[in-house]
Amino acid sequence: MTGKVVVVTGAARGIGQGIAQVLGANGARVVGVDRTAGNGVEFVADISSPEANRDMVAFAVERYGCVDAVVACAAVSRRGPFVEIQPEDLAYTFAPTLYGAFYTCQAGARQMIAQGNGGSVLIVGSVHVHQHNPNSASYNMAKAALASLSRTIAAELAPHGIRVNSILPGWTDTPGELNFATREQLDEAGRRLPLGRLGRPEDIGQAALYLLSDEAAYVTGCELLVDGGITLNTRSANAKGEA
Ligand SMILES: NC(=O)c1ccc[n+]([C@@H]2O[C@H](COP(=O)([O-])OP(=O)(O)OC[C@H]3O[C@@H](n4cnc5c(N)ncnc54)[C@H](O)[C@@H]3O)[C@@H](O)[C@H]2O)c1
Repeated sequence: MTGKVVVVTGAARGIGQGIAQVLGANGARVVGVDRTAGNGVEFVADISSPEANRDMVAFAVERYGCVDAVVACAAVSRRGPFVEIQPEDLAYTFAPTLYGAFYTCQAGARQMIAQGNGGSVLIVGSVHVHQHNPNSASYNMAKAALASLSRTIAAELAPHGIRVNSILPGWTDTPGELNFATREQLDEAGRRLPLGRLGRPEDIGQAALYLLSDEAAYVTGCELLVDGGITLNTRSANAKGEA
C-alpha cells in the first residue's frame, strides 16, 4: 500500500479506526474522516450527504494529489421492534449507513474515473446481510442494499479498472457495541463463538489491507466474511447414530 491514498470514513474509532491503522502501518496515506475529531481524523464531517463526500474527496486530492481508494465504513444503527419503527428511526439509520455509504462510493469512483488510473472501493457491510437479526430491520435493510450496491457497481466500474469489494464483519468488539451490551455480555458472547472471541478492529483491517492491495488485483465483487464463524451452523445433529 506504500504511498496509496485511501479515504476511510468512520475512522475515529472501532472498525474504521482499525482499518485506518492497519493501512497506515502498511504505508498507505490515510485520510481519516469522521463526524468526531481525534484519533488521526483529518476531515471532520457528517458523511450522510453527497456534498460532504464530494468535499471529503476534494480534501484528500488537495492534500495528497489523488485518491486511490475509498472505504465506506461510517454507520449507525437504531434498534427496536419492527412494529414500533417510526419514519425518523429509518431516516436516522439510513442517513449515514445507506445514503452516506452510497455517496462515499460515488464520490470516490468519480474521482478515480477522472484520474484514469483504476482504484478500489471497499464497503464495510455486515453479517446481518445473511443473519437477519431481529430488532435491526433498518440496519439490516441498509446493509442488504449495500451488498447489492457493491455487486452492481463492481460490474459498472470494472471497465475503469476500479475494483469494488465488501467485507462482512461478524460481531466485532468496538465502542459502538457497548451501546447495546455490557463489557461482560460482550466477552461472554465472544466465548460462545466458534473461534472463541469477538472480532477485533484489526481483524477487519487486515482483510481491508488484502482487498485494497495489489495482492487482490483480480478480486472484485467479492463479499469477504470476517466473522470468526458466527454465521456457521454449529447446531449439529448428534455426531453418531443411524436411523
Ligand atoms: N461492531 C460490529 O459488531 C460490526 C459488525 C458488522 C459490521 N459492522 C460495521 O462496521 C462499521 C463500523 O462499526 P463500529 O462497530 O466500529 O461502530 P462505532 O460506532 O464504534 O464507530 C463508528 C464510527 O463511525 C462514525 N460515524 C457514524 N455516523 C457518521 C456520520 N454520519 N458521519 C461521519 N462519521 C460517522 C462514528 O462517529 C464512529 O467514529 C459500520 O459500518 C458497522 O455497520 C460492525
